[in-house]
Amino acid sequence: MTHRTLYLVTCGAPLASRIGDGVRAAREQGWDPYVIPTDAALPWLEGQDLDGVPVLTGNRKPSDPKRTPKADAVAVVPATFNTLNAWANGSANTYPLTVLCAALGSGIPVAAVPFAKHDLAGHPAWLASLAVLRYARVWIVDPHDGATASLDPVSSGTGNRTADNFRWNWVLDLLKPPEEDAGGGS
Ligand SMILES: Cc1cc2nc3c(=O)[nH]c(=O)nc-3n(C[C@H](O)[C@H](O)[C@H](O)COP(=O)(O)O)c2cc1C
Repeated sequence: MTHRTLYLVTCGAPLASRIGDGVRAAREQGWDPYVIPTDAALPWLEGQDLDGVPVLTGNRKPSDPKRTPKADAVAVVPATFNTLNAWANGSANTYPLTVLCAALGSGIPVAAVPFAKHDLAGHPAWLASLAVLRYARVWIVDPHDGATASLDPVSSGTGNRTADNFRWNWVLDLLKPPEEDAGGGS
């Protein structure tokens, strides 16, 4: 199986508690995952088994070598209100945001699982940011059911349950490359 590089960006919301599962699911589909947490995501990573994958926090020093191969795909799971709006706005003042902004410019497949409660999702910037990202061909994936055509806010008090019920295949199946060998040939 050809291995491809997947950057898994994760933000400070309950679904960050499932990154360990995401790493394993990605590996089963032939990805080499790299975890790229925001500072706010770090408490959710504590105690998770990340199967030894690299966790990249902060920018490298200018004198250090590059830490990762180029990404073949990027997923941001979960995408908080803060990060999703900053990303759509083109802010790249943290390492995870730089990765996300660069992914839009490079044309690789990108998926985001927005995770915001009703009050934050009611802010006008949220809908505008989602529209920008959809225009940029980002797959927007509902954390409740994997839908890509609609997105429901997370009801207060249900964040952990929504995280538990989340299935990584909702995201990974969207990022799969076309079959390398469809059985044809001459
Ligand atoms: C327990 C807890 C739950 C949170 N849940 C959410 C959430 O579901 N969605 C969200 O956008 N922010 C949530 N936040 C707030 C974010 O962590 C906060 O806005 C943070 O600044 C986001 O930073 P980031 O986008 O760099 O990860 C939560 C914070 C805590 C402490």
